Amino acid sequence: MKCVDDFRLKLGDKELVPIITGGMGVDISTAALALEAARLGGIGHISDAMVPTVTDRRFNTKYVKDKLKQYKFNVENSDKSVVQFNLGLLEEATKLHVGHTMDAKRGDGMVFINCMEKLTMNAPKDTLRVRMRAAMDAGIDGITLAAGLHLGSFALIEDHPRFRDVKLGIIVSSLRALQLFLKKSARTNRLPDYIVIEGPLAGGHLGFGLDWAQYDLATIVAEIRDWLVEQKLDIPLVPAGGIFTGTDATNFLEMGAAAVQVATRFTVTRECGLPEDVQQEYFKASEDEIEVNQISPTGYPMRMLKSSPAIGDIIRPNCEAYGYLLDASGNCQYIDAYNREHAAHPGERRVRIWDKTCLCTHMRNFDCWTCGHYTYRLKDTTHRNADGSYQILSAEHVFHDYQFSKDNRIALPEASIAV
Ligand SMILES: Cc1cc2nc3c(=O)[nH]c(=O)nc-3n(C[C@H](O)[C@H](O)[C@H](O)COP(=O)(O)O)c2cc1C
Repeated sequence: MKCVDDFRLKLGDKELVPIITGGMGVDISTAALALEAARLGGIGHISDAMVPTVTDRRFNTKYVKDKLKQYKFNVENSDKSVVQFNLGLLEEATKLHVGHTMDAKRGDGMVFINCMEKLTMNAPKDTLRVRMRAAMDAGIDGITLAAGLHLGSFALIEDHPRFRDVKLGIIVSSLRALQLFLKKSARTNRLPDYIVIEGPLAGGHLGFGLDWAQYDLATIVAEIRDWLVEQKLDIPLVPAGGIFTGTDATNFLEMGAAAVQVATRFTVTRECGLPEDVQQEYFKASEDEIEVNQISPTGYPMRMLKSSPAIGDIIRPNCEAYGYLLDASGNCQYIDAYNREHAAHPGERRVRIWDKTCLCTHMRNFDCWTCGHYTYRLKDTTHRNADGSYQILSAEHVFHDYQFSKDNRIALPEASIAV
């Protein structure tokens, strides 16, 4: 019987353990987590979501405070088009985040950044261009294009000196999305170096509608694999979403995948950015406490715990400080929902908004508990402490469990407290 360690991911001249930790914004997939995956010979993702905000927390910079000061005059105004990011400062923050991470890298693996097109930041092309180029300047090993179709993203960096050396990947959830991307980026004469195929059981935003349960990752992977063979294209495939055990991963590698991308199992590790009280919520969750809803202002369905404080929002849109989801005209679906509800309840102060949430603020504060479908199985991956809480794992333990386990077994960590 084989295990993940019997396979290797070949990317250019590199041979890697075929385990990739997925990007988890906002700073849930921390530098510490990505660096562990790289140290152990795999690939770890950091995230480019809300980097100035993350940099403030990491390096004590003041990007958010300064931006709020600059736009304070607009706080009461529902038209947010004036709230623009300073591209020079965005570049500086990204270089800080990525540069420090790359300087700390040890071992044979790689560190990639997860870049989301849906982070439109009131100037979609300009801000995405700056984020990608700054990450390349700061030495990132690869960029994974996520959340959005990214039909023009390659073109934004094609004149960068590292365009052909940095690894470039794309996340898709269907063959059709892949075909569209390849057609649109053909002009740059640059194929993706890998394709992440994200199925309906993943965490974060989904590339499916509310009918997600009708889709199956293995079927989509087989469809894309067969089409690529037909087209004589040899691009490594990386399934993601619901791969919970080493055996799940091995099954995909045996059907022709080059690696797997995993995230949920790492949300309860010490290196992950989620505060420990939130990690305990993930451990405790039962299957019926996990839902896919439409409260994200991006318009994509998102999976989260029903008990997330972000659901049933009351806060005023906070775009002067954040504003990462403002579209090209300064709109966000949360602002619309907030204004509609306040117009319907004049004079009331604590009006609840159920259909949308202020994702920037809540992701920043770890109050939107987005999670993968199998979060309810996390409790089976560790020990229960005497006080009823669950023992937090190390990223190394989880990584090795994926790498070496067989027969659907999940190795428990050494118990730190008597159970
Ligand atoms: C807490 C959490 C946050 C996530 N955030 C993002 C994100 O910001 N961008 C992204 O492309 N994928 C995101 N994902 C998806 C993961 O990168 C990964 O592809 C997927 O969750 C893998 O499936 P698994 O969680 O079942 O292992 C997130 C997943 C989780 C669990």
